[in-house]
Amino acid sequence: MQDQLNALLAKAQNELPALKTRPEFEAAKARYVGPNGELTALMKQMGTVPKEQRPAVGKLINETKGQLQTQLDAALRQIEATELQAQLGPAVDPTLPSPDSELGTHHPLTLVREEMCRILRKVGFTVVEGPEVETEYYCFDALNTPPDHPARDAQDTFYLPDAAKFGNVSKKHQQEKYLLRTHTSSVQIRTMLKGKPPIRVVSPGRVYRRDTTDATHSANFHQLECLYVDKNVTVRDLKALLDYIFASLLGKDTKTRFRPHYFGYTEPSFEVDLSARHLPKVNKEWIEIGGCGMVDPTVFKGVGYDSTVWSGYAFGMGLERLAMLLYGIDDIRYFYQNDVRFLKQFA
Ligand code: DAH
Repeated sequence: MQDQLNALLAKAQNELPALKTRPEFEAAKARYVGPNGELTALMKQMGTVPKEQRPAVGKLINETKGQLQTQLDAALRQIEATELQAQLGPAVDPTLPSPDSELGTHHPLTLVREEMCRILRKVGFTVVEGPEVETEYYCFDALNTPPDHPARDAQDTFYLPDAAKFGNVSKKHQQEKYLLRTHTSSVQIRTMLKGKPPIRVVSPGRVYRRDTTDATHSANFHQLECLYVDKNVTVRDLKALLDYIFASLLGKDTKTRFRPHYFGYTEPSFEVDLSARHLPKVNKEWIEIGGCGMVDPTVFKGVGYDSTVWSGYAFGMGLERLAMLLYGIDDIRYFYQNDVRFLKQFA
């Protein structure tokens, strides 16, 4: 009997680990411990064992049964693990980036902003930022823009309710209003008040106007402002810098020209036009791109700079307009619609 039991265990040890599927397992289990199984058959022989040997043989059978059960359990666990593995598919490394997520691209406005900042950094400009919520002082008063100027009209500017509070922007007096900045020129004042000349800064950012949206207007758009304050700065320096910037950004065939204009914060003031006929979709000889001029002595006085010692130039321009020129985009609304078919083209 003992030999038979050992032979049975040895056979099971060979056979059970090789089982692959549940039906195979169930069949094997039946062959060993089922009603007609081999172990069951041996147990049935207990009746023929002499009485005095029965306890020992009974013990032996129980041990064999236990061992067989252990082998069966192991075989079943192995099959379950294989099944799970099949469900999970090939092993994955969860630390790898998902193959489904495509690499994004920079927005065309970001590309133009970064390129402009790179061009200006090369000639010594530092990038600074200013708040989008401003006070009338920074946006208008300090820029020599009087209360009756049309830019200050509620038709043109988004004022905030009197009760609005902004911890990071403080009013000069209680009656002053908060507003969404209409241009980045406010950063000129913040920079001059914070630092000492010489100053050479570029400040890109978002600005807001009460414009009705169409192909060339948006109530919120982006500007890039530059301010240079030093000794003996002249209009020639201003023109040379603008020529350098636009030739770097749009190609050396680009030309600039100044047209006299009026801005409260510069004297003389100009509008800047570009000629860039080599660019796609440019069908006019001259395209207006921004405003500029020599910093007005009144502005210097307001920030405590001696205008007999210091001189400077400033200019501001729209980033959308630049991006439209550079990429041949004919509708400003494409910038804000988040349509990937549009955005993907700037990879
Ligand atoms: N702030 C003007 C605008 O939004 C642009 C501008 C004009 C900026 C003249 C300047 C400047 O710095 O000197 O239209």
